[in-house]
Amino acid sequence: MLLYRSAVWFAKGLREYTKSGYESASKDFIPDELEVQVPGRAFMVTGGNSGIGKATAFEIAKRGGTVHLVCRDQNRAEGARGEIIRESGNQNIFLHIVDLSDPKTVWKFVENFKQEHTLNVLINNAGCMVNKRELTEDGLEKNFATNTLGVYVLTTALIPVLEKEHDPRVITVSSGGMLVQKLNTDDLQSERTAFDGTMVYAQNKRQQVVLTERWARAHPAIHFSCMHPGWVDTPGVRLSMPGFHARLGARLRSEAQGADTVLWLALAPTDAVQPSGRFFQGDFLPGCEGAPDPPLRAARVWEGLFPFPVIVPGLPWQGGSFACRGGL
Ligand SMILES: NC(=O)c1ccc[n+]([C@@H]2O[C@H](COP(=O)([O-])OP(=O)(O)OC[C@H]3O[C@@H](n4cnc5c(N)ncnc54)[C@H](OP(=O)(O)O)[C@@H]3O)[C@@H](O)[C@H]2O)c1
Repeated sequence: MLLYRSAVWFAKGLREYTKSGYESASKDFIPDELEVQVPGRAFMVTGGNSGIGKATAFEIAKRGGTVHLVCRDQNRAEGARGEIIRESGNQNIFLHIVDLSDPKTVWKFVENFKQEHTLNVLINNAGCMVNKRELTEDGLEKNFATNTLGVYVLTTALIPVLEKEHDPRVITVSSGGMLVQKLNTDDLQSERTAFDGTMVYAQNKRQQVVLTERWARAHPAIHFSCMHPGWVDTPGVRLSMPGFHARLGARLRSEAQGADTVLWLALAPTDAVQPSGRFFQGDFLPGCEGAPDPPLRAARVWEGLFPFPVIVPGLPWQGGSFACRGGL
């Protein structure tokens, strides 16, 4: 089944997730939706020093928004901040050094952040695919700690901050790669089976979709969405998937193309992005979306997010509702 699922998914990806998929889909985009200025609105972009996150931060900066870059490496982050300021002319670019795989640090960061800043839009972009099983200082598997727990803690901590503002949004950069796996919450720390970084990543990205749906139901004042950026030529793909990167080569999307749906979800008129809680990527993938993850397993992802309390009672998993900006 995994082989079939992966083969169907790859064929779909070649059609839709590539540069040519973007170019054909973009014919239906409505340019006005992104031709906006957003001075006075504040956007937090995690992993904003590289790839899709940096392209997103740059586009927001060009439109006059205040940008909070949340990055783990001071040098890389300062370089990116300088570049964004120089090229956009926007001075309101702030830098926060936070390792998202460390939940206590993330929580403390938000405690400080909210004393000084407001926030309209959180963009959970940072992510990783670590191909060997590595543990953080807390003993958490690194992909899970970064992609799921980091996103969970940051978003949960920022919900009260976002709720105070006009038109608050949370966008999580998930991945179409999640479609190759059904949700499996029996082994969140990847201890029991042979470690496969790609499949752990796929699970994490599915967990983000579950969290998005549940947040949307629990916090109707905030618009939540998650999305697949397509297959994009970024340092992350080059490093973690060198074979895939070499095979796809020029067919990969540019970073700006990869940022397009994130931007649209962050900037488009409120009506255009409704309803809250959806995963944006494209058409249905036969055989993958048909069997929604059962509520119990979805609930276990939520409850498994130790050490933070479960703040939302068990809400049912509704299955994926798929939409797209022009059929990504
Ligand atoms: N590129 C694709 O084809 C593709 C497809 C589907 C989904 N995505 C998703 O898109 C998002 C962006 O990835 P990308 O392709 O643009 O790769 P990228 O260039 O490697 O960017 C990833 C960013 O996340 C940051 N990051 C990783 N772990 C972190 C941590 N523990 N704490 C703080 N920041 C951390 C990285 O920081 P450093 O620079 O310090 O490493 C980097 O800024 C990811 O969520 C990825 O899963 C990408």
